[in-house]
Amino acid sequence: MAAPDSTAVRTALWRALHLAVDPPPHVFADELGLRLAGPGEGWRDRDDMDPATAGRYRAGMVARARFVEDLVTEQAARGVGQYVILGAGLDTFAQRRPDLASRLRVFEVDQPGPQAWKRARLEELGLGVPDWLRLVPVDFETASWWDRLAAAGFAPDEPAVVASTGVSMYLTKEANAATLRRIAGFAPGSTLAMTFLLPAGLLDDAERDRHRATASRAKAAGTPFVSSFSPAEVLAMARDAGFRDAVHVSGAELDERYFADRADGLRIVRGEEFLVATTGATAGAADPGRPAASP
Ligand SMILES: C[S@@+](CC[C@H](N)C(=O)[O-])C[C@H]1O[C@@H](n2cnc3c(N)ncnc32)[C@H](O)[C@@H]1O
Repeated sequence: MAAPDSTAVRTALWRALHLAVDPPPHVFADELGLRLAGPGEGWRDRDDMDPATAGRYRAGMVARARFVEDLVTEQAARGVGQYVILGAGLDTFAQRRPDLASRLRVFEVDQPGPQAWKRARLEELGLGVPDWLRLVPVDFETASWWDRLAAAGFAPDEPAVVASTGVSMYLTKEANAATLRRIAGFAPGSTLAMTFLLPAGLLDDAERDRHRATASRAKAAGTPFVSSFSPAEVLAMARDAGFRDAVHVSGAELDERYFADRADGLRIVRGEEFLVATTGATAGAADPGRPAASP
């Protein structure tokens, strides 16, 4: 029987924990991922949900989700009509934001087993798969996600926003480079927002210890971190792949954008940062690394 991907469940639970334990204003509001995951009563007692020690992790999860959703909002306002979510996991944009999602074609790409599980959960909860959502089952490492995307109705001659959060670290460098080359070939005006892990050597001592603990938990869970990149390396990869522009958005910038004025001092864990890369040229394109404030 199909099962969810454990890493995707964890990020969904962290998003829900933000609403449960952090005072408003909330950076991101998603309780639907928790409903999908259906972890049972004791989920907040899990070691990885300890409100004290997991604070910076849940902040990182809501920051990256918010950053992507701000970007999608901004790009949709510019007329971009396709949104591809690579390694979607328990992403709930299509269900939470019908106002926006119904104006887009949303493609969720994920491993076949976990995606079959998600489809079944959506049916079980009475949410179903709305018209604007296409579920594209594929393993990036062994099959061509691009062919499957096209078969699912993706229009290669129209621009798209592509999000890949919490995925690149589970793929080989070769698979990441191949993915970048594919997306660089998307229609002009397309934007990729992809998170990547920094090598431990670029972190300070406290963050490095945290990173090592996370990496060994990931390995023990059977989902080891395989790739990390310095910002210079990931920018070079994006340019080599053929993107017109590539910018790096650091953890410090995400903190500044989403957590600066908080009275509770919540800040994101360091170590996961964004590459934002754009294809071709279109008039009026906004600076991709700095999406406008969301509503
Ligand atoms: C940490 S979760 C991130 C989920 C979601 N993007 C988020 O930010 O909450 C990683 C996701 O990548 C997917 N993934 C990992 N390796 C993959 C592969 N080889 N092919 C397709 N999907 C993969 C997993 O199934 C999972 O949904």
